[in-house]
Amino acid sequence: MHFKLAFIGFGTVGQGLSEILLEKKDVLAEKYNFHFVVVAISDIMKGSIYDENGLDMAKILDLVKAGKKLDEYPTGVKGMNSLTTIKETNADTVIEVTFTDVKTGEPALTHIKTALKAGKNVVSTNKGPVVKQAVDLLNMAMTNNVHYGFEGVVLSGTPALNLAKCTLAGNIINGFRGILNGTTNYILTRMEEGMSYEEALKKAQKLGYAEADPTGDVEGWDALGKVVILSNVVLGKNLSWGDVERKGITEITKEDTEKAKAAGKRWKLIGSAEIKRDGSVKAKVWPEKLPLSDPLAGVSEAINALTYYTDELGPVTIVGPGAGRRETGFSLLIDLLEINRKSSEKIITKK
Ligand code: HSE
Repeated sequence: MHFKLAFIGFGTVGQGLSEILLEKKDVLAEKYNFHFVVVAISDIMKGSIYDENGLDMAKILDLVKAGKKLDEYPTGVKGMNSLTTIKETNADTVIEVTFTDVKTGEPALTHIKTALKAGKNVVSTNKGPVVKQAVDLLNMAMTNNVHYGFEGVVLSGTPALNLAKCTLAGNIINGFRGILNGTTNYILTRMEEGMSYEEALKKAQKLGYAEADPTGDVEGWDALGKVVILSNVVLGKNLSWGDVERKGITEITKEDTEKAKAAGKRWKLIGSAEIKRDGSVKAKVWPEKLPLSDPLAGVSEAINALTYYTDELGPVTIVGPGAGRRETGFSLLIDLLEINRKSSEKIITKK
């Protein structure tokens, strides 16, 4: 399949995906018959650029890395905002990676709805829209005969959602438990080694793990969003923000982590949900002092882990990166290749 891509937002995640696409262009074409051009980019800080025939992404990345605006690209149409880029360019697939308020889901929610209504596929790492309206957006995509992919909203490029949807299909999943936030896991790992909370947080920000406002990470809101997403998308429930008990890691001191270590334990921020006998869900984000024998205790740095409790297999755990520029960029490639696969299947079926 040939794709015409438009980036809405071009921060670290968008740039991470662009690097992967450039480096793997040939293998993607040969192995998956995935061909693409990037026709447009619109970013609230960096400006915008549109060329219906495709942009030179190596040049674009050089410009952005040099701190220059997209308007300095030598050719093409400039000055288009996010909505005109979605509606008025020839892009068939929108990569939505803007800075978005996780609670309202905006501006990503409007971008995604606009694109789906215009008959364009969307891939996005924005959690807000999935927390608020996953089912509606998936239905909207189906009605418009396009796809909405959001693998990266949980565990970044580690395919936790695809695992539940595709490979574990046929199981009843009635709960999950995991380390769902990379920043806090990184901070707790460093604190256990003796680093202060403040210094560890600064490092997590520098490495690109933390949210634009890191309060979302350390107070447990980011993990809470992921618990809502997993409860709704994987467990088939209908939770919102207020349905999850929450406590972050800000009250855990360096001394607490050192004391736990001396006692053969480790602090972890755990997100979990369990379907009760009456069908209701008990969902929680809370710091727990785990014995080293707990598999989650061995998961350190910005690595995440998620255990699904299934009826056929019992607990099934996936472990991998939960944050980062290339890691989250890669999650968008998973979604793009899934669209490529499904679209190719449609063509074969039609023949
Ligand atoms: N800030 C998030 C984390 C990014 O640290 O896990 C990935 O969702």
